[in-house]
Amino acid sequence: LYIVHIAAEMAPIAKVGGLGDVVTGLSKTLQKRGHLVEIILPKYDCMQYDRIHDLKALDFVVESSFDGKQFKNKIWVGTVEGLPVYFIEPLHPSNFFWRGKFYGEPDDFKRFSYFSRAALELLLRAGKKPDIIHCHDWQTAFVAPLYWDLYAPRGLNSARICFTCHNFEYQGTAPASEMASCGLDVQQLNRPDRMQDNTSRDRVNPVKGAVVFSNIVTTVSPTYAQEVRTAEGGKGLHTTVNLHSKKFVGILNGIDTGAWNPAADTFLEIQYSATDLLGKAENKSALRKQLGLSHANPRQPLVSCITRLVPQKGVHLIRHAIYRTMELGGQFILLGSSPLSHIQEEFEGIAKQFEHHDHVRLILKYDESLSRCIYAASDMFIVPSIFEPCGLTQMIAMRYGSIPIARKTGGLNDSVFDINDDTIPLQFRNGFTFANADEQGLNRALERAFNHYRSHPVSWQELVQKVMNLDFSWDSSASQYEELYSKSIARARSFHR
Ligand code: ADP
Ligand code: GLC
Repeated sequence: LYIVHIAAEMAPIAKVGGLGDVVTGLSKTLQKRGHLVEIILPKYDCMQYDRIHDLKALDFVVESSFDGKQFKNKIWVGTVEGLPVYFIEPLHPSNFFWRGKFYGEPDDFKRFSYFSRAALELLLRAGKKPDIIHCHDWQTAFVAPLYWDLYAPRGLNSARICFTCHNFEYQGTAPASEMASCGLDVQQLNRPDRMQDNTSRDRVNPVKGAVVFSNIVTTVSPTYAQEVRTAEGGKGLHTTVNLHSKKFVGILNGIDTGAWNPAADTFLEIQYSATDLLGKAENKSALRKQLGLSHANPRQPLVSCITRLVPQKGVHLIRHAIYRTMELGGQFILLGSSPLSHIQEEFEGIAKQFEHHDHVRLILKYDESLSRCIYAASDMFIVPSIFEPCGLTQMIAMRYGSIPIARKTGGLNDSVFDINDDTIPLQFRNGFTFANADEQGLNRALERAFNHYRSHPVSWQELVQKVMNLDFSWDSSASQYEELYSKSIARARSFHR
């Protein structure tokens, strides 16, 4: 198949969170399975340009329409992780992607509706005939209505549209009139069965539009797919999802096991594997020294957390875990940052409080190389999310031999299974879970983990080896996407026959 992903993130060059990991990991695996995969991204100024190979500007410029005028877009092409990537640089006076950040601009709706349209224009002008156009999250959700309304009639009509919603919390709603800029028909689309937001008649909802207009709609775990069908989980879109449930499915993300591999990770102090755990202990010791933590006792449990600090992630429970870990005699490292200033400031306060402490360190920034050292050094890894569409950190942590302590929600419920849960076959049990999003629940799980670590060192080591050998690769998930793509294409063909 010929598959084009249109996305706002791609790891490692333009990553805010898991979306970037998924775009790269899924694409690499589909490519390995013999498909032609291309990616279209905005040409952000803040990308990691040193990780893009052979980047060059094409000598053809694509014009796209916005606010009723034509704007030129410079098209660049390069290779990232072995994948061909097209970058769109709009020659638009607003410098949409020249802002020093990926998201969080007051005109995000304009920036990404512009990008979605320009991406389709690129496919049309370049004469590309993809079988699948796969768009992700609200930023590229515009692709679905734009494709059927404006591009299929103009001849870009080979494709089926797949939309993956990575998080129903972010729907990108805006006043209906704003939709006109990218050429979408406000009269036609601002209707309850189309793009009108379910809670406000004056607003349009790009995610709703993509659910309505895509041929395939997925989210990133089976449990989350169930949760978003309820009033609580769907964040206003449960009725829409239920109406379109026939084309809606939850597929658990994988991780890129090539990119996340302690046996080949050059950012680590020393590489290690499940059969050589001494290396893991050396990473723990090196990181404790580097961060100025006490390293006298190698058997002192090291708990960590790597996350965007947003309410979804259970920030109050993360904060609580820092103090509870100390009381239990462990050490805690948090690596995280927040787009929300009140949360960032709160954690900066806590970081200051522990600045010279022997057992706690908070590092409040995005830092990929440090994240790798933390995954490797930790004994335990907490993910106390209030909701979690999939979550990748628990899988990466396991790949590096850190035992997850996770709340049973969304994709965590599909990937972390309590070591004492008799309903789960023994070979799948891999961590410590809790159900209620409260301090008692977290305490209980943390205490059980500490007891196990201290009282059963041999069994703990076996658990570490077991989780490192679990298969969280993209293989099985990519084959599920492949099947969805193929079925949708077959359905379209039989319809046209
Ligand atoms: P989300 O996409 O909701 O943020 P995921 O668990 O799916 O959550 O993915 C998070 C990704 O971002 C992981 O690859 C994780 O390692 C990475 N990450 C999160 N915070 C940081 C940080 N402060 N520094 C480095 N990497 C981070
Ligand atoms: C979102 C979700 C996270 C998921 C990621 C990749 O950011 O919050 O749970 O793992 O997307 O799908």
